Amino acid sequence: MIDEVKEILVSESELNDITTRLANEINRDYAGEEVIFVGLLKGSFVFLSDLIKKVTVQCKIDFMIVSSYGASTVSSGKVNIKKDLSQDIADKHVIVVEDIVDSGITLNAVLALLDERCPKSLKLCSCLSKPSRRVKEVKIDYLGTEIPDEFVIGYGLDYDEKYRNLPYVAVIDPKYI
Ligand code: IMP
Ligand code: MG
Repeated sequence: MIDEVKEILVSESELNDITTRLANEINRDYAGEEVIFVGLLKGSFVFLSDLIKKVTVQCKIDFMIVSSYGASTVSSGKVNIKKDLSQDIADKHVIVVEDIVDSGITLNAVLALLDERCPKSLKLCSCLSKPSRRVKEVKIDYLGTEIPDEFVIGYGLDYDEKYRNLPYVAVIDPKYI
């Protein structure tokens, strides 16, 4: 374990169980259908890659890079799109894949924006959720696990762009922040 890790919250084996369970749910719910997975970069890329290896329904992968505007304009529900999808999602089954839902502000806005493009269905799959931090309500259709209000790193999640490569989710030692 590296020095910066105070505590492992979700182990590699628990993450493996999570992606297996969520992929099974998706395979059951979308049997015979095609799904477009929309990963929000950068955080979701590790979770998405583990998840889709266990998905057996026909699927396509796409990515978006978004950032929410400052807190003052949050009520407008607008996000700044730095990279948009490379395909049309009208009349398609879409599952947005995220690393963590924290305040819910980003996801709330992204889901509203994608919904305007008239997908056949629109669901959210998130590896982690910090429910105690929620500002905007977000329905997580496929959830890995809830975690307490701690800043976490690993499994795609960064602190200052570092630690995304850790194979587990860990609490960072505050002395490194
Ligand atoms: P929110 O739900 O709009 O507040 O934003 C969620 C985004 O904030 C996530 O996609 C992460 O990129 C980032 N984030 C939230 N909590 C953490 C954390 O504990 N560690 C690292 N990134 C986090
Ligand atoms: Mg993110």
